Order: sequence, then C-alpha cells, then structure tokens
Amino acid sequence: MKEKIEQIKTQLLNISISNNEQLEQFRIEYLGKKGVIAELFNDFKQLPPDQKKATGQLVNALKNSAQELYQQSKEQLETDKADKVADDIDYTRPASLTSPGARHPLAITMEEIVSIFRQLGYTLSEGPEIEDDWHIFSALNFPPEHPAREMQDTFFIEKKPDIALRTHTSSVQVRVMENEKPPIRTVSPGRVFRNEAISARAHCIFHQVEGLYISENVSFAHLKHDLYFFARQMFGEKTRIRLRPSYFPFTEPSAEMDVSCNICGGTGCNICKYTGWLEIMGCGMVDPNVLKNCDINPEIYSGFAFGMGVERIAMLKYQIKDIRLFFENDIRFLNQFV
Ligand code: PHE
Repeated sequence: MKEKIEQIKTQLLNISISNNEQLEQFRIEYLGKKGVIAELFNDFKQLPPDQKKATGQLVNALKNSAQELYQQSKEQLETDKADKVADDIDYTRPASLTSPGARHPLAITMEEIVSIFRQLGYTLSEGPEIEDDWHIFSALNFPPEHPAREMQDTFFIEKKPDIALRTHTSSVQVRVMENEKPPIRTVSPGRVFRNEAISARAHCIFHQVEGLYISENVSFAHLKHDLYFFARQMFGEKTRIRLRPSYFPFTEPSAEMDVSCNICGGTGCNICKYTGWLEIMGCGMVDPNVLKNCDINPEIYSGFAFGMGVERIAMLKYQIKDIRLFFENDIRFLNQFV
C-alpha cells in the first residue's frame, strides 16, 4: 500500500491542469467517490491494526495535497479568465459621453423676472404652498361667495375646509404685510395650484411672480413705471405696454397689462391673435381693505401689486406652443435651453 501512495504522490507532482475540463477530470479521478484516494481509504480498512496509524497519516496527507492542488488550480483558472477579459478591453476607445444637467426653462425665466425687479430694489419673499383661507382669500378681500372659494376652482385639503393649495402667491404678500412695516418692496415667486383641466394652454400647476410695493404717496404712475421698465428689460427696448381696466378683489383700481407682440412687432400674427398685443399680467392699487386686514393704516400708506404667470412669459419668450412640455421633462426639450 505504501508503494501505491508514493506512486500517486509522484503523479500529483507531475499533473498540470490548464482548463476546466482537466480540472473536472482531476476531481473525478482523484477526489471523487470512486476515485483513487477513496480507493486507498477502502484498502486502509483492511490493514492490520498495528499498521493503521502510520498509513492513515500518509493517506490523509495525500488527500490534503490533492485537495490543495484542486483548489489552487481552480483559483488559477479564474484569475486567468479575468485577465483575459481585461486584455479584451480597448483602452483607446472614446468614452461614452455623460451629459451635464441644465437649468429648466421655467427656472431660467423666473430668475430673469426676479433679477429685473431686483434692479428696482425689490426684495425676495417666499411662503408655504399649503395655505389657510385667510392668506389666500379672506385677507385679500375675497367676498364669501367668490367662485375661487369653490372646489371646482381650488384644491382644498380633504376634511379641512380652511386649508388649500395656494391659488396665487398673493398669499405670500399678505404674510409680508403682516410681519413687516412699510416701506415694503418685494417680489414673491413660486408654485401655485388651480383645479383646471390640463390643455396646451392651461395646467393645474403653474408658477407666478407677484410683486408688492407699499409706502407713502404711492400712485398708479409708480406702478406703470416699474412695469414698463420690466417689459422693456424682458422683451426688448422697443416694447410698448398697455393697461386695460380689469377687476381683482384685492386691488382698486385694477388693470390687465399687455405688451406689444415681440414676434410680429405689433403688426399682427397668430401668437398675438392678430391684435399686436399680448396679455401678460394683472395689477392694480392695493385695496384699502387689504391694508387694514394686515394692520397697515390706509390713511398713511398706499401701494400697488402685480402678478404674472411664469409659464406664459416663458411660452412667449421661447415661442413654446404647449404648456405641458414644461412638466414632461423630456430631455430633447430641456436640452434646447442649455
Ligand atoms: N393674484 C392675481 C392672480 O393670481 C394676480 C394679481 C396680483 C393681480 C396682484 C393684481 C394684483 O391672478
């Protein structure tokens, strides 16, 4: 039996395993249930007791070195394979490009609007998107039966009739008036919500920038000055403005502002519906009731307010025909504003 062991030992020294088939072959032949080492263990059982100890040690050592050889060969084959994959990589191939992010057209437009009013000394104020009735409607002089207070027009929070998603950022101006003393000169950009059917021209979520100026002796002429300055900065030096009488519960008198169509220059096109004018915002002198509601004395102070939709301005500026494009986040659309 000793010779047999020696013989196998020399065999192990000369074996070379260079692929997976040879590895499997080796496993079956030497380590398998019917392999040569299993056979040695069978022979071992027949030995007289006095020889068992010494021979047992030899057989065990042989088994260990066969297992070791198997394990080492297996690992070697795996590293060889990984090296081969690495060799196949072409390091000179150009990398696939990752595209950097870009600013959203609404963010660009909103920032531009705000920066124009900054030049006139307006500060920036922000407030919550979920608001109470007081800040959205009551403080702003909305009568109790006003349609904006209906579910069809406003998103109310379930089971909380007093809480809603703000329908305009005028709510922020109420907060500013409650917390600060005049003179106040501020713009409030932000997201607003109205319960409207989504179409190419309207969305239930959109953005506004609203402005407020309160001081002593503020007149409609001051309002006109600031809005004219804004229109020329935003749409070009040649832009003209037009103020048409309108109605808002929180301003008196109220007006709607149009700018001359920057696409046809006022001669008429399908964007301005052949009128030469584009309606871009509402405005007016702050109603004395609103000032009173915010603890500002209307005998001393007066002010004006204005508000515009950011989507509308961006659509006019970039000639975008469908408001839904702003919310779909299609990369092909967004990349045009890089
Ligand atoms: N809050 C009005 C709106 O959302 C806009 C507006 C603001 C009008 C200030 C007049 C004065 O439509």
